[in-house]
Amino acid sequence: MTNIGNYEEKYRSFDWSQAREILGYKEGDFLNIGYYCSDRICEQGKQDKLALIWEGMDGTVKKYTFDDIRVLSNTYADYLRSLGVRPGDRVCIFMDKIPDLYISALGILKLGAIAQPLFSAFGPESLITRLENAETKVVLTTKKHASKVRKIKADLPALEKVVIVEGEPKKLEDWEALFNLETAEKGEQFESFAADLETPSLLHYTSGTTGQPKGALHVHSSIFAQHVTAKWVLDLRDDDVYWCTADPGWVTGTSYGIIGPWSLGVTQCVLDAGFTAERWYKFIQDHKVTVWYSAPTAIRMLMKQGSEIVKRFDMSSLRYLTSVGEPLNAEAVHWSKEAYGLPFHDTFWQTETGSIVISNYPGMEIKPGSMGKPFPGIEATVLDLKTHEPVVESGKVGLIALKPGWPSMFRQYWRNEEVYKSKFDKGWYICGDRASIDKDGYYWFVGRDDDVINTGGHLVGPFEIESALLEHPAVAESAAVGKPDEVNMEVVKAFVALKPGFEPSDDLELDIMNFIRKKLSPLAMPQEIEFVSSLPKTRSGKIMRRVLRAKEWGEDLGDISTLVEDE
Ligand code: PRX
Repeated sequence: MTNIGNYEEKYRSFDWSQAREILGYKEGDFLNIGYYCSDRICEQGKQDKLALIWEGMDGTVKKYTFDDIRVLSNTYADYLRSLGVRPGDRVCIFMDKIPDLYISALGILKLGAIAQPLFSAFGPESLITRLENAETKVVLTTKKHASKVRKIKADLPALEKVVIVEGEPKKLEDWEALFNLETAEKGEQFESFAADLETPSLLHYTSGTTGQPKGALHVHSSIFAQHVTAKWVLDLRDDDVYWCTADPGWVTGTSYGIIGPWSLGVTQCVLDAGFTAERWYKFIQDHKVTVWYSAPTAIRMLMKQGSEIVKRFDMSSLRYLTSVGEPLNAEAVHWSKEAYGLPFHDTFWQTETGSIVISNYPGMEIKPGSMGKPFPGIEATVLDLKTHEPVVESGKVGLIALKPGWPSMFRQYWRNEEVYKSKFDKGWYICGDRASIDKDGYYWFVGRDDDVINTGGHLVGPFEIESALLEHPAVAESAAVGKPDEVNMEVVKAFVALKPGFEPSDDLELDIMNFIRKKLSPLAMPQEIEFVSSLPKTRSGKIMRRVLRAKEWGEDLGDISTLVEDE
């Protein structure tokens, strides 16, 4: 039996007041995510249950019960209050995936302040735009990353304190402080800020195609949606050991790496180490992970290593696999069934939506390559590209749009009202993605609106081309973009990274071309394949097609602050 039961029935009967009931919230109660993810779980008698199993790069494992998380997040809240942090102030968390990251996030929320998590890999340039825009008051960081903040401190007048929570620099600046969670006086009790439904909680920066990154502001009532989606889409249960591979610098790592699982009182694992297939499989084996939430990029990297290596590990604990962030190719679903005996379930959402909005549900038939169907309580459609009226014909491509009003929807782009407003039309929030809906109501992703290729007036989505390429045994990853063409305006060019053991050659290019010709319409056929060793990606693992495209067109690269440089 799955948590959601019958999807169709739930979709018909659900309204968001039920999400409040499922969380146990009653009209007039105060609502604080920090409290709901720790104190309340302890009040339910789960104080001694493990909340966090953390494993570091060197193999060190640390374990925390829900009571530990409650007391330690109180300790953070007390400390931040002593620094003068007030409700509504922005506190940035800038560190690797160490336990302090997760615990301080709850501490900030308990205080009523706004948590602003940023990827620890960001350099000073990426940091300054986000700290400046948010007028961040305090940055929590570690010795390893503090020097990057030092470089820009003079240009950040609103930044009062930089707190180093791990390691000790030789000399402290007068605006720096040391804090050690292990030795700090523990906060046995802390009265969480009595937030209401609209009190701001988290500020997540997303980078647009052009211009500055935008700060999507969320509120405490987002927990209603994160709680019920974690329960019904990720199918989380009391005895699960859950692993979300995302970094909380990305919304997946907060919505489903903190709030969803902990508001359900579920044990979660964190691996703070770089990717290798062996390390990941061993992590699943050692901690007996049952539910795994990952991303297509990671899945493709695992596919690249092949299924033989899977057999060296005991992964029998796994019972449910989900994916987010990019289109999940049909090939990845088939492969995971073969390699792990379980399919990955695709989930679609955005920083702006705060929680999963379209998905494949446990118990519902998966059509490999499809994103699934709208979550109960989410009214979704695709809009005509020109008129922005809902498309009625099944199979016709349009823009994915959602009716505003679900609890975890972003409330604004921080100090950017104009761009916020531009996301809405005719009563719909427009996601900026193209898809079609089939006769059974399944959504089929085509591409980011900006990534769609216009060849001779025909629109081609990169996803179908990349999915065809991925089925070729030599292809590990690919990106399809439009390159300029005198006749057709644009033609398709594919960038391909090969699996180990394959070398670029004209013969291989021809072989791949012949292989995909059988699968694609002539319009979607690439005119050219360029072999590359890797593809440009964001910190959250998304392929940045627009960077490849801009190079083809000789255009400015736009905002590339989230681009992962070759290390
Ligand atoms: O283009 C879609 C893609 O990622 C975008 C949102 O990115 P971000 O704000 O970083 O949040 C991602 C995860 C919460 C979307 O507009 N995207 C996300 N999931 C999928 C996807 N594209 C296709 N299929 C998905 N399942």
